[in-house]
Formats: sequence, structure tokens, C-alpha cells
Amino acid sequence: MKSLVISLGGSVLVPSLSENRILEYAAVLRQVSEKHRVFVVVGGGGEARKYIDTMRSLGVDEGTCDEIGILVTRLNAALLIAALGDSAYPGVAEDQTSALEYAVSGRIVVMGGITPAQTTDAVAAVLAERTRADILVNLTSVDGIYSADPKTDTSATRFTHLTPEKLAQVVGGSRLNAGSNTVMDAIAVKIIQRSGIPLVVLDGRTPRNLPDAIISGRFNGTIVSSDENARYLPL
Ligand code: UTP
Repeated sequence: MKSLVISLGGSVLVPSLSENRILEYAAVLRQVSEKHRVFVVVGGGGEARKYIDTMRSLGVDEGTCDEIGILVTRLNAALLIAALGDSAYPGVAEDQTSALEYAVSGRIVVMGGITPAQTTDAVAAVLAERTRADILVNLTSVDGIYSADPKTDTSATRFTHLTPEKLAQVVGGSRLNAGSNTVMDAIAVKIIQRSGIPLVVLDGRTPRNLPDAIISGRFNGTIVSSDENARYLPL
């Protein structure tokens, strides 16, 4: 059985509490977990940013803003677990070792953030190392890694393949304030560089993109691997 770690952006799972994709994601995660061992790391989304902005307006430091972001990622993880029912381990893993312990149940393991000054992408990258995952999947609000931010730069072009070193160049200078919004955080990229675990970046706004990529091998996104000819999908 192959294993995958999914970094499920809060911006695609819970853009806001009133407009979310939780039930749709529960369905596709169940489908993928029929054949694979699945770990999901859930982000904070729009609600985390509201809490972080409110916290910052109170004049507190960035680390404390990160802590409230982490709490919201765990709330989102709890919502996803509720929607997954018996398919998921019933508790949110609050550290990497707990995630490994929960996996013994054979169910989908869900976690959120764990420590300040990073994002859930870094949590997912370490979890991929620790579980010796076959692949790390980043479901985010763009359809791959671009040469610049496609939301603000119309001349940005999308990469279909990148080496980890090139990925580090592309995202290298990103800021790390609480709630900052970049395609991947620099810590996650460092972990991908050292571990060599292949990464696939997919447009998470369409939940079907996950089983299409993992089960059917049809996908539109970016593969990050040191192997120039990597075609890792389907698993
Ligand atoms: P994320 O940035 O991971 O959420 O966490 P997100 O919504 O998935 O982001 P998108 O969708 O990829 O854009 C939200 C915030 O929680 C804090 C950080 O402040 C982060 O910006 N956080 C999260 C931590 O400090 N540590 C963690 O381990 C995780």
C-alpha cells in the first residue's frame, strides 16, 4: 500500500465557514484511502486570517498570531474529521508522533499546525519524511507553481516540472508573517530538498483533482522532483 501526505490548504477547504468544501473533500479522501494510506494536514483558510488580523490589531507579536492560526487549523481539522466519520481517526493529531500513532488504526489521520513561524505545508513535509510517504500532495488555490504570483502578475508562467533547487529559487524570498499567503513556505521547500520526496501541486478548488491525479493519473499541475523525467502518478 502506497502512502501519501496531503497538505490541504485552508483556503480551499474552508475559504470561510459559510462557504466550504468539507463534504466534497470527505468524499474524495475516502475514495483515495480505499487503496492508499492517507495523512491530511489542514490549513487555516479565511477564518484563520480573520483571527490573525484581529490578534495583530491588539498589538501582539507575530508568534502569538501564529498560535491563534494554529488553533484555527485544528478547528478545521476537527470539522474534516467529523465529515469523514469512521474513515478517520477520531482525534486531531497535535504533533508528528501522535500522527504516527494514530495511523496504526488504519484510518485517515488528520492534523493541523504544530509550532509557530511556519505553515501547515512544513508540517506536511515533515510528516511525509517521517511516514516515508511515496508522495506529498499540495492542494492549493492555484493550479501549480508559477514563475511569479499569477494573481498579481499576468505574465507569470506555470511550471509543469521543477527540481527542488529550482523550487527553492522560485519561492525563496517569501515572507513568513502569521497568515502570509504564498504557494509553499520556505521551510517546507528545505524539507523537500533534503528528503527527496516527490511533491505534486494541484488546484484544490476542484476536489476531484485529487482522485483524478492519484488514481487515474490525469492532472494539471506541477511536479517537483530531482528526476527530470518524473511521472509519479498514478501511484
Ligand atoms: P496555513 O498558512 O498553513 O493555512 O496556516 P492555509 O490557510 O492553509 O494557507 P493556504 O491555504 O495554503 O494559503 C495558517 C497560519 O497558522 C500559523 C501561521 O501563522 C499560518 O500562516 N501556523 C500554521 C503556524 O504558525 N504553525 C503551523 O505549524 C501551522
